[in-house]
Amino acid sequence: MISVFANSSLNLKYIMSKKEIQSVEYGLEKIFEGAQDFLPLLGTDYVEFYVGNAKQAAHFYKTAFGFQSYAYKGLETGSRDSVSYVLKQDKIRLVLTTPLNSKSPINDHIVKHGDGVKVVALWVDDATKSYEETTKRGAKSYMEPTVEKDEFGEVVRSGIYTYGETVHMFVERKNYKGTFMPGFVEWKSDYNPEPTGLKFIDHMVGNVGWNEMNTWVKWYEDVMGFVNFLSFDDKQIHTEYSALMSKVMSNGNGRIKFPINEPAEGKKRSQIEEYLDFYEGPGVQHIAVATDDIIKTVADLRSRGIEFLSTPPEEYYNAVPGRLEEHSHELREDIEALKKLGIMIDADEEGYLLQIFTKPLEDRPTLFFEIIQRMGAKGFGAGNFKALFESIEREQELRGTL
Ligand code: FE2
Repeated sequence: MISVFANSSLNLKYIMSKKEIQSVEYGLEKIFEGAQDFLPLLGTDYVEFYVGNAKQAAHFYKTAFGFQSYAYKGLETGSRDSVSYVLKQDKIRLVLTTPLNSKSPINDHIVKHGDGVKVVALWVDDATKSYEETTKRGAKSYMEPTVEKDEFGEVVRSGIYTYGETVHMFVERKNYKGTFMPGFVEWKSDYNPEPTGLKFIDHMVGNVGWNEMNTWVKWYEDVMGFVNFLSFDDKQIHTEYSALMSKVMSNGNGRIKFPINEPAEGKKRSQIEEYLDFYEGPGVQHIAVATDDIIKTVADLRSRGIEFLSTPPEEYYNAVPGRLEEHSHELREDIEALKKLGIMIDADEEGYLLQIFTKPLEDRPTLFFEIIQRMGAKGFGAGNFKALFESIEREQELRGTL
């Protein structure tokens, strides 16, 4: 293993194998050169949340994040057991689903986990083949390939379980021209708040239990054909009180990135343990959404009531010019504007990135969003981990969960 990108101010390092360094230097395609990608993924199709009250959750995501009304299914469309609202913003689709009676298994998920992500759906060209290739490599089936049809064509979906009760659905929609998928109607609303500039899902992070990270890394390698292209251990990701470990998994074309975290021993309880306690098991920790104007997006989100983790201290921003200079990059944004909004900056050899994290979006301290703008950097803000975790620890202290 070789260490690169040493960050002297925070004593953080990426540890990468030679093969992994190549992946960063030459692009992931090189790793896959010559190898057949048995699970080609075209992108994220949708993210489905199971929630206690989808009508109210939909209002929140429209009002606060600027998602647009897109599709609906419920009693009026013949769905007797559950209601789903589909919201859209550029390439991002969120589905918010709630059960209509006590017998629906969706209730069990909500009772145990609270509101949370049930499905991370992946857009594929062939949902049947995706199911066969992954189940034959050991994936546990969630839904066999199923064809849904209406007058606009057909959608084929299949699903497998990943960590916890979370599911990957494979969605094949090449023969469908309607709104979202069969069973849904277009959702027209008189209430349409402006978008906030969110473009697409950059990455989605899963929290898994003690000593389970490598099990899931191997699962993504074996079952999904992903590669581990960045790793951080507890010696690199720690504060005075707590620690965690993380490995970033990516599919062949680099469009899908799933970092996986596990807790590590520290003096106090880490944010990952807090998540696992309140979610009552592994699950999706955060959804990172990309914008190309983070200053505008974050100012807008703040004005709509979204709360972010506390702004890093003065010394953090004083160190930024040096960190960028170290890699010969020039900050194009006004640092005072970034500071005012609490946006963090990290740099690597290829460029820099700007990022900020919301507080948990529900009462249980579980799921949150990250807003990210990449200016060439392909990392995940390792240089910000310490400042970020100290900020989370201040919140944990208030919650009595540190
Ligand atoms: Fe992230």
